Formats: sequence, C-alpha cells, structure tokens
Amino acid sequence: MVVSAEVLLHESILEALRQCMNDGSLPLDAVPDDIVIEKPKNPSHGDWSTNAALRIARHLPGSTPMDIANTVVAHLSENTAFSRVDVVQPGFINARLSGAFIDAQLTEMYNSPRLGLPEVEHPQTVVVDYSAPNVAKEMHVGHLRSTIIGDALVRILAHLGHTVIRENHIGDWGTPFGMLIEHLIDVGDAEGLEELSVGELGAFYREARTTFDSEPAFQDRSRRRVVLLQSGDPATLKLWRTLVDASLDAFETIYSELGVLLTREDVAGESRYNDALGKVVEDLKAWNLLVESDGAQCVFPPGFFNRDGSPLPLIIQKSDGGYGYAATDLATIRDRVDRLHADRMLYVVGMPQSQHFAMVFAVAAMAGWLPTGVEATHIAFGHMLGTDHKMFKSRSGGTFQLQRLIDEAVARARSAVIERNPELGEEDCDSIARMVGIGAMKYADLANDRTRDYVFDLDRMLSFEGNTAPYLQYAHARIRSVFRKGNAAPAASVTALPALAPSERALALHLLSLQSVLEDVAITCRPHTLCTYLYELSSLFTDFYEQCPILKAASAEERENRLALAHLTGRTLREGLGLLGIAAPEQM
Ligand code: ARG
Repeated sequence: MVVSAEVLLHESILEALRQCMNDGSLPLDAVPDDIVIEKPKNPSHGDWSTNAALRIARHLPGSTPMDIANTVVAHLSENTAFSRVDVVQPGFINARLSGAFIDAQLTEMYNSPRLGLPEVEHPQTVVVDYSAPNVAKEMHVGHLRSTIIGDALVRILAHLGHTVIRENHIGDWGTPFGMLIEHLIDVGDAEGLEELSVGELGAFYREARTTFDSEPAFQDRSRRRVVLLQSGDPATLKLWRTLVDASLDAFETIYSELGVLLTREDVAGESRYNDALGKVVEDLKAWNLLVESDGAQCVFPPGFFNRDGSPLPLIIQKSDGGYGYAATDLATIRDRVDRLHADRMLYVVGMPQSQHFAMVFAVAAMAGWLPTGVEATHIAFGHMLGTDHKMFKSRSGGTFQLQRLIDEAVARARSAVIERNPELGEEDCDSIARMVGIGAMKYADLANDRTRDYVFDLDRMLSFEGNTAPYLQYAHARIRSVFRKGNAAPAASVTALPALAPSERALALHLLSLQSVLEDVAITCRPHTLCTYLYELSSLFTDFYEQCPILKAASAEERENRLALAHLTGRTLREGLGLLGIAAPEQM
C-alpha cells in the first residue's frame, strides 16, 4: 500500500507521542487533536512541518516546546522513512523523507494497477441522489451541475470501494401532470411526441401552461385528470408514461453526450414513492408530530423560523389533500434506509434547497427514520452565472438548451484542437474535440468549490493555460507523445524508481499524496480538491520536463527512470480525470 507522506508523518508523530507517553517522558493523558501537519513554504525546511510540540506544551505546564520537540524527535529519528528530522525554534518539528522511502513507495505505486490505492476498510452503502430533472420540462443548469458533480462523487466513492447506489429522483408526479396530459391529448400523441423528442420540453410545458391559464374548460379537464391519475386510471397512466418516457429519452441524450453513468435503472422518481405517502402521514400522526396549520398537515421541527420569528412548518399534506415535495423526500429516506440499507445519503441539489433538506432531515430524525450512524447530507452547490455575472441565460435570453451549450463547447474545442495540431485527421479531430469540449465544461464546474457560484465562460474553460481540462488533457497527451517520439513503451513494472533531482523529488512527493486527496474528497464531497491536485501535478510535471531531459538523459538508466516517472504521472492524470468523468486523449 502506498502511504501518502502526510499520512505517514501523521502516524509517525502519533506513534512517537505514544511511545513518549508509555515511557513516561511525556506525562500526557491523550494526544491533543489540534496538531497541524503541513508543507513548509520554504522547501529547505523539509517536506513536512508540525506544531505538535507547541500544542502539547499547552497541556504540560512547566515544559518548553523545544524540550518536547527534542523528546519526540529522539523517537522519530529511528524511523527510516525520514532522512532528517530537525527541531526549529520555537518548537517546530521539520521532517524530510528519505530517498529510499520515496523510491520504495513510488515503485509500489507504479507496479499497482490501482496506483497503490487501498480499498476502504469499512465500505459503506452510499446513495447518491443527483441530476433529478423534471418530466416535460427543460433540464436547466442546476440539473447540469448536479449531474456533473454527482457523477464525479459516484465515481470516486465507488473507486475507493464503497457500494454506490445512483438515484435519479426525477420530478414525475404532481398536479402539473393533469395539465400536461390534457395538452398531450390536444396536440395528439404523434405531434406531442415529436415535440418532446426533439428536446423541446420547455415549449411543450409552456404551451400547456398558457392554455391552462387562459381556458377555464382546460383547467377543469386538467383538474379531473389529476384525480384520474391519482386513482390509477389505466388510460391516464398510459398517457403519463408517454410523457415520462419521452422526457427520459431527452435526458438520456444529454447523459450520453456528457458521458455520465446514469441509466434508466437509476431512475427513482417521485412517482415511485406515491404509495408510501399515506404511511408517512399516518406515522407522523401516530408520533404526535403532525400539527394542523391553515388546513395543512405540518411538522414544526425545532430551530426553524420564519422571517418574523414564528416557527416554520414543513408542509406534509396540503389542505386539498395533495402531498408536497417534503412528503416524498421523507418517504424516500425511509426507502433508502429500510430497503437499500444506506449508511450515507448524499443529495446533490442546488443551494436554494438548503432549508428544505435541513428541515426534511430534522423531521426524519424526529420520526426515527434517520437512525444515528446514518448520514444524510445536502451536497449543495452555487449558481452557474453568465460572463456578465448574472444568472446564466442563453444568448437569446429565453430558456436555454443544454444541447446547444454542449454543441458550442465541442465546436469551439474543435477549432482549438485544429489550430494546435493541424495534422490531425477528421475522425481523430472529432473525437478529441468531444473529449476536450465536454471535459472542459465538466472541469470548469468541478474545479471551483461547489458552494460558490461560478461563471460559465467557454473561452476560459477551453484555454490551454491555467486550471482547465485542456491544460490537464494536454499534459497527459504530451507524456504520451514522449513515448511516441522516443519509440519507447512504458515498462510494465519497475524494481526501483528513484527521484533524485529536486524537480523529480517534488513530482514524486505529489504523486504519493493521491490517496489522501481522494479520501478527502470522499469525506467532504468537494471534487475541486482533486482538480487542484491534478493541476499542481501537471505544473510539477512541467517543471520536471523542463529541467530533466527524458529522451536525451545522460544514461540509459536515467532515461528509463525518467520515462517511468513520466508514465506514472500520465497514469495518475488519466485516472484522476477519469474519476472526474473526463476523458484523456492520447494525442491532442
Ligand atoms: N426535481 C427537483 C428539482 O428540479 C430536484 C430533486 C432533488 N432530489 C430530491 N430528493 N429532492 O428541483
């Protein structure tokens, strides 16, 4: 197993502290939990630096941080992973990893098909609720963000060894379906389907809405249709199914364009929980949690207030008897816990729904549907903005079409690729343009802290400079081209992989921290840390590439060694991009 330097130092320090506690040289009850281990700004201070002794001194009045540091270091210096451990005023401990240790770790990483990544010791069942567009409505940028972020999380969690269940909680139920079905009847199956199939979901919805708002007779029909739908009338259900299937076809076109993992089997829409809603109300009532407020059945979870300070209700059943979005989400939690045995539920949904989820989780906990030990987290994200920093809209200002956005990204990527590499054939160019264009869109979304708004700027995201997909893809392709130019094949395995020159060493250390980065993403669900890691990896590779000739190395041994380091970097870039759902072309 490859140990990342952070993990190693952390464990070594803890081990040294434990030894000091055992032999009585540090009379501590426990290791303080506010110890920081970090990379020193100045590399001459070593690879890692810790304030452990300074923190411990607070718990041991009478002893100085310098004394404590020296005591700890006496134990640390026996560890062959370190070539040097120093104590620096006022009590910092600086450590430098030994060449032999880095070599052994890199060798192991190189020889492992999983790049030395262990599978998690305690795999969890994780339900990831993502994408979730609404039937007969255009998929909007919020759904796009959810789809991209959710898919990256799914890939990373699964790669680490968790059992991941994807759930696409599409909006496929509720009162608007009365009107949508009546509209489908009016325009006729054939024309209606035609309209839906070309992805003009927005137009279909708008027309239905306009008729509904202007024709009282249509309104009456729509209301009756809702009743028929809810009572399970077969003819109505058939029309409803038509709408759902046509929308799913349109969503799936986008999914396959984007190359995300979602399939039809992952659809767990609102309609699926319809039969469980009565039981939600019944059980909440039995627990005395339901309160009638303005005719609606509500739960008032503690700690939630309206602007005027009055308690805020979560509406479970409306005064007309219809169930709200919250009731469905409660039924969904019960299903995920009882049937799927979820240990963890992640809801990849935009920030505006934060309060909804906080309240739903609170009510689920009150009702005992969210047992302790089961985690439910809203993986919130910010808005996508246009280059004018306003809410994203298409150029015409109307509803925008995801498909057009994708087409434009791919078309622009194509010209960028041709410009850089005019010798590419048509076919290569097309496939590379897809990988670059779609990769750029996904990466731009993932590279920012998800909780912040981000600006959708095609020029920036398609740039070959900076923290962009094309920059990383190009770094990967350049590594592949070194092998093509040198007519060399990467070694299947290595017996040693020393990193001697400073730029080799820096690259090596960064490669070895892949594991801790992925573990961090698995916990925080912030894929941008993986993006930052890959971006730094590419920059460190560039330094190495500029400073250490690979094909023209001084000796055959050095050449082999540098080729191996380049190959390991290429594999890590490819793997990392793959975990974000982004392809890495062989050439660009
Ligand atoms: N369909 C919803 C929307 O478009 C998102 C659903 C998110 N998932 C959930 N379990 N509520 O806003």
